[in-house]
Amino acid sequence: MIHLYASETAAAASLALFVILFGLLWVFRVGWLREANAVDVLVLILSCAFGCRVTAKGKTCQWPKNVDFTGRVALVVGASSGVGFSTAEQLAEHGWTVILAARNTERLMYAKKCIERHVQRRGSNGVVKVLGTVDLRSDASIRAYVQNLTAVKDKLSVGLLVMAAGALHRHLTFVGEAADLKAGAASISSSPPEWRSLECTVASNAVGPFLFTQLMLPLLDETAENSSVTSRIVNVASSCHTFLGPGRPSTFDPISMLHGLDKRGAEVIAGRRDPAAAEGGGGTQDKVSDLYYAKDFSFANFVGYYGLSKLCVMWNTRLLAHQVALMRFSKETGLITPKMRKSEEDKEKASRSATTTARTTGNNTALTPQENGRHNQLKIFVACTHPGISATYLYRELFSPRVLDFVLYYPSLVIFKTWFESAQSTLKAAVEDTDMVQGGYYLCGGEYGPESGVNCVSAHAQNPTHLQAYREWLMGKVAPSMKTTEKKEE
Ligand SMILES: NC(=O)c1ccc[n+]([C@@H]2O[C@H](COP(=O)([O-])OP(=O)(O)OC[C@H]3O[C@@H](n4cnc5c(N)ncnc54)[C@H](OP(=O)(O)O)[C@@H]3O)[C@@H](O)[C@H]2O)c1
Ligand SMILES: *[C@@H]1O[C@H](CO)[C@@H](O)[C@H](O)[C@H]1NC(C)=O
Ligand SMILES: *[C@@H]1O[C@H](CO)[C@@H](O)[C@H](O)[C@H]1NC(C)=O
Ligand SMILES: *[C@@H]1O[C@H](CO)[C@@H](O)[C@H](O)[C@H]1NC(C)=O
Repeated sequence: MIHLYASETAAAASLALFVILFGLLWVFRVGWLREANAVDVLVLILSCAFGCRVTAKGKTCQWPKNVDFTGRVALVVGASSGVGFSTAEQLAEHGWTVILAARNTERLMYAKKCIERHVQRRGSNGVVKVLGTVDLRSDASIRAYVQNLTAVKDKLSVGLLVMAAGALHRHLTFVGEAADLKAGAASISSSPPEWRSLECTVASNAVGPFLFTQLMLPLLDETAENSSVTSRIVNVASSCHTFLGPGRPSTFDPISMLHGLDKRGAEVIAGRRDPAAAEGGGGTQDKVSDLYYAKDFSFANFVGYYGLSKLCVMWNTRLLAHQVALMRFSKETGLITPKMRKSEEDKEKASRSATTTARTTGNNTALTPQENGRHNQLKIFVACTHPGISATYLYRELFSPRVLDFVLYYPSLVIFKTWFESAQSTLKAAVEDTDMVQGGYYLCGGEYGPESGVNCVSAHAQNPTHLQAYREWLMGKVAPSMKTTEKKEE
């Protein structure tokens, strides 16, 4: 579940080593520890903690020095806390105009205030904006958000999309929770049937984000075309994609897990009680009778299905990377996209986008060396990342936010990451300019899958048969909503 050579693993190993070493010295009354007093022990503990903290940090993003990011526009989905928040904060600190998106307006406004204060303190000229809310479990909400964003594309042309939203649900819950429906959350009830039988974790982590990135592609393409700078999409995945339940990974078939969820969702929607759930728990009887709820306590379901949703994010990234591989700036390489053909009519513009070294339309769209380098022709660069482990609100169904903030966060830093550190791999994929791998998987340490020498992408994530089966399943969910959007645009 955790990558063996992640910095957290190293920190945990150092901690274990310290404990064993000093434990032995103390038990056998050797050396200096023979007469250690309370102060000695305290100093010892603090220096161990410090050593582990330094190890846990991992590498930080190397911001390209010769690039002015002022005025470039980034959209961060899931920016109200954790990885997304810190990513947005650091982008704004470097001059980006950052649009924050998530489900809750209050949390978004609070995040905006915090980031603005930070930006002011640093004397940067970054701008923070909130355009509205989006719920990735609802296709209607996603379409509405992207439509609003497209309406203001002249002022805010998004060139970086960070998909950092994610949820870890304690129970299997299907989209269209009864509580939401009662509260009149129209966005969910107006979703098509394909979505109402989706499991929430899979919907908010995998299916919703895929639809979101699909709808954003034309906009990112246009921004690349206008500015001659490669647009980027960064999906926040997780090392948890290697874990589908306790036991050997090869015993799990992720595709049948997905189809199994569909079946359960359909049953729940039909109003039948889940027999396993009825036996399961004592106190939450009323929840069991909810139409949209399937009770599930086992470790396999709770973390395994989260792992499954993250595996889907890995696949989403591969599918996207394939899809955009043919979208190139110049007609000499690859195929010419319809967008390119249109712009060819405008000769001057075509020549401008054909050579990435040409002057750009504005001062704020400087070219990074990456665009002159290895894949200078790509219009859209796609990557996914593992942020590392950090005490964020991801765990809010396990611990209350107060406990997370005041009890767990600081002690967890001995072996886990700060929010700032957990944003580094995502930032790396978003702004760095050397050795970028299209469709690559970036880690906290800065290494990525196949080229790091240690392959940390799971076998399932690399299996082409699974990828194909997943694609078919996924298209069954998102294709209908993509069609409705196309119709609306016409
Ligand atoms: N923390 C870790 O240890 C860890 C490890 C590996 C991977 N990750 C991944 O990192 C990503 C960020 O998680 P985090 O740790 O930063 O957790 P977090 O603090 O809970 O942040 C999640 C963000 O996503 C938003 N969000 C949640 N559900 C959403 C939905 N259905 N639609 C739209 N926005 C939604 C949340 O805001 P609202 O609730 O207000 O909508 C929040 O802004 C996740 O994809 C997670 O899987 C985290
Ligand atoms: C889209 O914009 C309209 C009008 O400004 C607003 O009422 C609506 O809430 C916005 N929707 C989203 C999802 O942001
Ligand atoms: C690209 O440029 C055209 C023409 O100047 C403009 O109409 C369009 O809104 C721009 N699109 C983006 C995403 O910046
Ligand atoms: C670019 O910057 C120069 C000076 O820094 C300024 O005079 C010029 O108006 C700017 N051009 C644009 C298109 O912003």
